[in-house]
Amino acid sequence: MMAREETDEPRIAIVGLGYVGLSTAACLASKFHVTGIDLDLAKIGLIGKGRAPFLEKGLQPLLEAHVRNGMLQCTTNYSAASDSDIVFITVGTPSSKSGEIDLSQVRSASQSIGEAIAGSNRPTTVVVKSTVIPGTTRSVVKPILEQSSGRTSGEGFGICSNPEFLREGQAIEDTLNPSRIVIGPIDQFSRDQVLSFYRKFYGAQMPPVVETSPETAELIKYSSNAFLATKISFINLIARMCEKIPGSDVNDVARGMGLDPRIGSLFLQAGPGFGGSCFPKDVQALVDYAKRLGVDPSILESTLKVNETQPDNVVSQAEKMLNRVDGKKIAVLGLAFNPNTDDIRESRAIPVIRKLVSKGAMVGAYDPMAMDGAKRELGPIITYSTNAKACVKGTDLVIIMTAWPEFMDLSNDELTRLMGGRVRILDARRIYDPARFPNAEFTAIGLGNPHD
Ligand code: UGA
Repeated sequence: MMAREETDEPRIAIVGLGYVGLSTAACLASKFHVTGIDLDLAKIGLIGKGRAPFLEKGLQPLLEAHVRNGMLQCTTNYSAASDSDIVFITVGTPSSKSGEIDLSQVRSASQSIGEAIAGSNRPTTVVVKSTVIPGTTRSVVKPILEQSSGRTSGEGFGICSNPEFLREGQAIEDTLNPSRIVIGPIDQFSRDQVLSFYRKFYGAQMPPVVETSPETAELIKYSSNAFLATKISFINLIARMCEKIPGSDVNDVARGMGLDPRIGSLFLQAGPGFGGSCFPKDVQALVDYAKRLGVDPSILESTLKVNETQPDNVVSQAEKMLNRVDGKKIAVLGLAFNPNTDDIRESRAIPVIRKLVSKGAMVGAYDPMAMDGAKRELGPIITYSTNAKACVKGTDLVIIMTAWPEFMDLSNDELTRLMGGRVRILDARRIYDPARFPNAEFTAIGLGNPHD
């Protein structure tokens, strides 16, 4: 290996090893020395052995490679921050009970980083990647860092907001090919350091940069998520209308709309609603923030309302197909909020299952990755299968809740055999072409039944 020049290659620390922090760490370690910091000892132990503590596409091989070659180290000890040129804060910002974001992890990470860099002369920049409401970097992170380090930002150490736009399940790909880099530096020093770091990492593939105030950078993140969530709720509202218009199809509506470059085709896939650890919490946080500013957030409230009621819509469709679900056997395929992840946070499969069970249905479920999480969340109210075919066998209805590619393999003949001749499919993710199941009773989100 070539000798490193300290001045040329920044050392990186990443505080908070969730899917954002760890995916970022694993990618950056291909070029820089990275130290991952997390308080969870068990997680650090696993990563130290090169094992991913959660499922994220492409993460495992990167961890293995970079832990083995020494480019990625992990620790529970914040002192590594003092030895770093750039320290990313990627801790969680969950919703508090009232819906506002809970900044406790951001505060304690800032405090510990400040203490770690207190005695150091190293020109460190602290970068806030966690999703935080506008003003947090300047009025929460900065004072805590300055107070606990005894140093003044802009004088040998810097602070910068730099939100991320990674999708869970595609975090590695998104880290390597981001659509843009948004930076909101508090001081010139952090601006120069962060930009130079990204230029070194991306080289000729440097994405477009939006440089703005920290408050605007923070707002760009919320606005992006809220807008994408609103696109989804919008198309789900149109889907509900399509379901009442014989012969109509929301997918064609979305295609017809999406070809207009002012609209764009992405995030117009109708389904059971958006889930995950970001959209529901971020839209709610933006609603609360708007109210505190005295701005009526009615568009965003409607986005949440459509999303909260979309699982009811799936259940109503199931009831319509079965007359009533009481005593019926229903197979739910897909529990994760998105394919390629084991994450069930805010997955729409959970409320759909709970509602079906509360109405007396006997539900069995299968997911390629999310079985453990689902068992913890739902316990014994449903049964769990080890594969899709076993789950479907002997049931009255199959509901597709996550667009896992492997569900595409179920054929008409197979379903006919497994379901005893009477095939009923409710495709809540629009993964199937109805023509594929000529003998089935087929219903889908946003599909107007031609016979209604
Ligand atoms: C989202 C954003 O897409 C990322 O840009 C952002 O960085 C991230 O939140 C975050 O704030 O950390 P994520 O929640 O991981 O990413 O996953 P998405 O792929 O955006 O999916 C969110 C939900 O929307 C899923 O339940 C998905 O099924 C649903 N969705 C998405 C639809 O129902 N229709 C669509 O057309 C697209």
